[in-house]
Amino acid sequence: QLMFTFLSLVFGFQATLLLLPDRSEQSCLISADQRAANCQGFRLQRVPVEDLPPSLEVLDLSYNMLQIIQNPDFAGLPLLRVLSLQFNNISLIEDEAFRDNPLLEDVNIFNNSLTTIPSKALAPLSRLQNLDMSNNLYTEATLDDTVLNFKNLKVLSMGGPYVSILKTGDLNALQNVSLEKFAIKTGSSLNVYEPGYLKNIQTKNMWLDVAIDNRSSALPLILKDLANKTFSVLRFRNLFEFKYYTDKEDIFDGLKFINCQQLIFYRGKFNEELLRMALVNLQKSSIKFLGLLFIDFARSQTFVHTDQASSVTNLQLEMLVLSDISNPDILRFDWRFTWLNKIRHLRVHNVNFNSVPCDAWEEMNGVEILDVSKNQLEDRFLFNQQCDYRETMPSLHTFNLSTNQLTSLSSFASLAGEFKHLQTIDISYNQLGSEGNNVCSWKQNITTVIAHHNIFVIDSFKCLPTTVLYLDLSYCNLDQLDMHYFEKAAGLKEIYLSGNKIKFIPSGWRSPNLNSLALDGNSFGIISMNSFKGMPSLEQLRAGNNPYHCTCDLHTFIQETTVKGKVQITDWPENYRCYYPADLLNTMVSKYFPGHVACDIRLVIVISVVTTAVFVLAIMLMCYLFNIPWYAKATYQIIRAKYRAHKDGAGMSAEYTFHAFISYSHSDADWVRDKLLPCLENCKPSYRICIHERDFMPGKWIIDNIIDNIENSHKVIFVLSRHFVNSEWCNYELYFAQQRAIGKNLRDVILVVKEPIDPKSLPSKYCKLKKMLNTKTYLEWPEQPKQQAFFWAQLRSVMGKPNLLKQNSVIENRRVSKLSRASVIELPEENPRPADGEPKMDPDPEAEVKPQITAGTEELPERNTENCSLRMPLEHSQVCSLTHDCGFE
Ligand SMILES: *[C@@H]1O[C@H](CO)[C@@H](O)[C@H](O)[C@H]1NC(C)=O
Ligand SMILES: *[C@@H]1O[C@H](CO)[C@@H](O)[C@H](O)[C@H]1NC(C)=O
Ligand SMILES: *[C@@H]1O[C@H](CO)[C@@H](O)[C@H](O)[C@H]1NC(C)=O
Ligand SMILES: *[C@@H]1O[C@H](CO)[C@@H](O)[C@H](O)[C@H]1NC(C)=O
Ligand SMILES: *[C@@H]1O[C@H](CO)[C@@H](O)[C@H](O)[C@H]1NC(C)=O
Ligand SMILES: *[C@@H]1O[C@H](CO)[C@@H](O)[C@H](O)[C@H]1NC(C)=O
Ligand SMILES: *[C@@H]1O[C@H](CO)[C@@H](O)[C@H](O)[C@H]1NC(C)=O
Repeated sequence: QLMFTFLSLVFGFQATLLLLPDRSEQSCLISADQRAANCQGFRLQRVPVEDLPPSLEVLDLSYNMLQIIQNPDFAGLPLLRVLSLQFNNISLIEDEAFRDNPLLEDVNIFNNSLTTIPSKALAPLSRLQNLDMSNNLYTEATLDDTVLNFKNLKVLSMGGPYVSILKTGDLNALQNVSLEKFAIKTGSSLNVYEPGYLKNIQTKNMWLDVAIDNRSSALPLILKDLANKTFSVLRFRNLFEFKYYTDKEDIFDGLKFINCQQLIFYRGKFNEELLRMALVNLQKSSIKFLGLLFIDFARSQTFVHTDQASSVTNLQLEMLVLSDISNPDILRFDWRFTWLNKIRHLRVHNVNFNSVPCDAWEEMNGVEILDVSKNQLEDRFLFNQQCDYRETMPSLHTFNLSTNQLTSLSSFASLAGEFKHLQTIDISYNQLGSEGNNVCSWKQNITTVIAHHNIFVIDSFKCLPTTVLYLDLSYCNLDQLDMHYFEKAAGLKEIYLSGNKIKFIPSGWRSPNLNSLALDGNSFGIISMNSFKGMPSLEQLRAGNNPYHCTCDLHTFIQETTVKGKVQITDWPENYRCYYPADLLNTMVSKYFPGHVACDIRLVIVISVVTTAVFVLAIMLMCYLFNIPWYAKATYQIIRAKYRAHKDGAGMSAEYTFHAFISYSHSDADWVRDKLLPCLENCKPSYRICIHERDFMPGKWIIDNIIDNIENSHKVIFVLSRHFVNSEWCNYELYFAQQRAIGKNLRDVILVVKEPIDPKSLPSKYCKLKKMLNTKTYLEWPEQPKQQAFFWAQLRSVMGKPNLLKQNSVIENRRVSKLSRASVIELPEENPRPADGEPKMDPDPEAEVKPQITAGTEELPERNTENCSLRMPLEHSQVCSLTHDCGFE
């Protein structure tokens, strides 16, 4: 393989040097699969045999400078099927040139310099289907019997500009061959047409490139040979190449005998007379399609037009195409338009007409499709205010005005709005734009509007028919859409808005029947499920090539549509790229995954709810574990008390003997003695406290004692518990304290809740206590030792600073100092035991049970489960041992 490549390079190089000094560096382009070689236009003077792999099936050597095809040129290409040799200067093909190419199907030697048909060379090609050998320098066009070998021949074109004679037996070899297409060229050289030349031909398409300028009598002979034959297409090229036909003889007379679907005149000169000759005969023929393409048309000086009806009134054609005609007069041929009235489909392309007379519209009453695209038409060429368009064009359903220069949709509507059965209008590639205040009325039900490539603005919408089902406004420079229009045009099924400048999709866009929507190539970045909410029937969407904002909305939209498949995005995913945010610029939207958590709103809610719940639970758990609310409350109380103390200032209670009076029930006495008292009295500085069992004046009536001591105490501490509530005495003390507090400050009452009590569960007679519990903040005795230190601190801060209390009594000062030492506690002198035989109490009249406390009685009254245990002695030793408990400071 390497050796071969090397050798072929060497040979190629030598060949370049020796034989082809002017050959360019390029060599043939060989396809990757080594089956096709393109050597077109390389100025080759010989076939580059060494460059061509033997696997070649397709070889294009056209547009070179080949002169001779030699026997070995294609010998190495046994698989060759298609050989293109057109546009060379080949004057000789050697007899065995194709001997080794039995598979050749397609040989093109068009436009070369052959003087005779290379029959010998072609003879082995039994598979030949297409043979184009026209435009050579032949002088005759005689086929020999080699054609009989071409069993599959489909397309044969032959002849050339110098063929001057077409002889009767020339095509005998084709007698039994059925062709797709046969083309014969003589150009204007034709001198002799022998009748019967075309007699034996059988082909679907007959292309005659025969100019009969000087031999016009040949045409009737040709048509006579074609009579009773059936063609799809009969095409004349350059029938009159240099001059118009001016004779009187009807050369188209034979047309009526030809069964042909299409008759095409391509290039050449036509005048009015010749056209009328053709049309008159066409009226009698079965031909349904007439095309006049690239025709040079001229009026006839001699044309006779009488005032009577035109001679062409019954031209029944499926289609008449007038395309690229040099002179628009062809339209007003014979000054009437009666020839147009039985044409179903009229296409007039590039005819440069600049007005349509009023009667033309009236005459075209059989036209169903009128296509005047590609004509440079301006508004005024079509719409003439002088014409009455009512009742005109009754059959028209499709009006094609594409590629003209219309600017006003309203003036077009004034014309086309009258055509009763019009359904489809194509006004693409015009300059239709702003309508200002013009009003458009469409009297019929237009269903299809193709209006792409215009310069619409938002007010153009009000000139569009609202009965449309199909609307194409692509490439119309639109930057906004008129929602009112879409509300009225509720039948719309397809809308195309590609290539506009739409910056956002209006939220209120409702098109209930819309099935297909194209919005690609616009300027909007945001698209979401909401965008198409008003289009419940939407199934197909094109929306690529927009500057997308890659956000959750877009992601959700894509997910919803591509995955759930409700709407099919037809151009997904190639043209969907992120434009924003900057770090995602040009990222494919299909590769953008913001993650479920970020985008699923339900997930976000669930997650935040769960997180909050967990957080709250954690806080609650911490509160439970560390009693944080209790600490917080206690701290708050202390701060408040400190604040109050600061506000009240010092020395306001000079007249008090005690810092506090403690009221408690019998059953709480232990706690008071063991905990409360030591903590208040044994601290530095210490408080002076009054408790009934120690400090009540013996011999004095108990109520007086209570009242006096409460009066002499700065604060009153109530130790609240279930027992307290049940104690009558305590209730008295509470009552007195409250009485005192009426005149003074309720803040001097301190409630210590030793056991939790529910104020609501208290009997109604304790309304005072209830009220106090409700209105006054109280101190709670915590069970946990750790928290108790806090309690003491709270209590002391509520009590205020003891040393601010001014004392006059020396004895008391001494006692305080003794107590503050906390080592030896003596019973104060004035602490007698409550006397026996105390006076009977006069209890609260509200009380149900009247306690009877008699002198010397240490037992509680029977009906009282508890009382304030006035007689309990204080056990000092315990107090001392607990001193450290209150060392909070
Ligand atoms: C074509 O070949 C002939 C000789 O066969 C030569 O005289 C003529 O100049 C060539 N024409 C062109 C265009 O190369
Ligand atoms: C081949 O084509 C060239 C260029 O199109 C033209 O000048 C020449 O006359 C043609 N040759 C023949 C035989 O038609
Ligand atoms: C065509 O077919 C007919 C009858 O089948 C036969 O007589 C005639 O010779 C054939 N012509 C050619 C040119 O083969
Ligand atoms: C056609 O006839 C005119 C004179 O009628 C002559 O000048 C012209 O050369 C002829 N054309 C051909 C191709 O014979
Ligand atoms: C065409 O066929 C019809 C009958 O089918 C015959 O009368 C007529 O002569 C034929 N025309 C020609 C020109 O052969
Ligand atoms: C109108 O004419 C243009 C150009 O000739 C063509 O592309 C288009 O398809 C036609 N429109 C309709 C509706 O036939
Ligand atoms: C247009 O359509 C409506 C409803 O479909 C119908 O009633 C009306 O007759 C139609 N008008 C024309 C001119 O076809």
